Amino acid sequence: MRKDLQARRAFVRTMVAVAMASLVPLGAAQAADPVKVGLMLPATGTFAALGTAISNAFRLYVEEQGGTLAGREIQYATVDDESDPAKATENANRLVVRDRVDVLVGTVHSGVALAMARVARQRDTLFIVPNAGAGDLTGSLCAPNLFRTSFTNWQPAYAMGQAALERGAKSAVTLTWNYAAGQEAVKGFAQAFEAGGGKVVRELALPFPNVEFQAYLTEIASLKPDAVYVFFAGAGAAKFVRDYAAAGLKDSIPLYSSGFLTDGTLEAMGGAGEGLITALHYADGLDNARDQAFREKYQAKYGIAPDVYAVQGYDAAQLLHVGLEAVGGDVRKKAEMRAAMRAATIDSPRGAFTLSAAHNPVQDIYLRRAEGNQNLVIGIAAEKLADPAEGCNM
Ligand code: PHB
Repeated sequence: MRKDLQARRAFVRTMVAVAMASLVPLGAAQAADPVKVGLMLPATGTFAALGTAISNAFRLYVEEQGGTLAGREIQYATVDDESDPAKATENANRLVVRDRVDVLVGTVHSGVALAMARVARQRDTLFIVPNAGAGDLTGSLCAPNLFRTSFTNWQPAYAMGQAALERGAKSAVTLTWNYAAGQEAVKGFAQAFEAGGGKVVRELALPFPNVEFQAYLTEIASLKPDAVYVFFAGAGAAKFVRDYAAAGLKDSIPLYSSGFLTDGTLEAMGGAGEGLITALHYADGLDNARDQAFREKYQAKYGIAPDVYAVQGYDAAQLLHVGLEAVGGDVRKKAEMRAAMRAATIDSPRGAFTLSAAHNPVQDIYLRRAEGNQNLVIGIAAEKLADPAEGCNM
């Protein structure tokens, strides 16, 4: 009789436990754990400041949410990728395989990001690109796990090609670092410029991240094109613009560029960048409340004005937030999380944007003029510009 009662009680306890367990939401076991974000960005080298801006703004957004997204604490693992493609696979594996991050975020340099995409794909790890513009990332390598909150190298370059024509140029010389980003930017510029009747008369290039520009400037001076189009960024961009002015070219041959040339670099140009016209998906002086609030908070926290890289990092965190919200923080629900991210409208400081089917921003490209340390918006070079996403089958 006593035994019977004990058995009955044990049975009831088991049933209660089962019932309780079914009341606990899926993923609760995991909910106590932080979501691990792997930040793979340059902390050294010519793109160091760009990596810092991305990291700063990503963290700022998370802090604004109280350090959690969808109820999950955010924990970081970081690697300095040095903008070195030769070390990229090993560095990405450190975060994805060793640290088992839930999401990989990075990087600035296209060649490094291409290697990261392969690592992320092997493990089906969510990968958000907050800068690198390599067309293949949302082209032939497009994938359900891969999202970009920045641009393709084609986007601002194509818009600049159209704007250069409108500003009266008929011939142009191009100059860039010889790697994916520069090659694609030159291609995008030439595509728009030549479609409208312009001619690229010479394509010049030097290895990344070299800054010995003198021979190229001499060649440009002797070719006397109507305009010069370049792709440079970071510390190298500041050096180039100083050298262009010192060679006496600034007043005789208009210098055009994707706006990376002058974003975050005007101060280091010491006035040599004044008046430069560039095209980019961000600008100073945008008339939108989201941007103003972002700029105030960023400036207050980091003591420096945000630039395009900061915006892209901020938006990477916003996009992750959308995904996490959709699954109540349960990162194991990959398909649902990615579907929500794909459908997101991001309320960006640059202006709201959506993602293309290939997961790249569809966005306005602004025309800007450098004044003091600002790239002031002077118009829209291309409205809601979507990358053609060649080779993407998803
Ligand atoms: C790139 O490598 O894709 C890249 C690097 C720096 C920029 C823009 C693009 O400012």
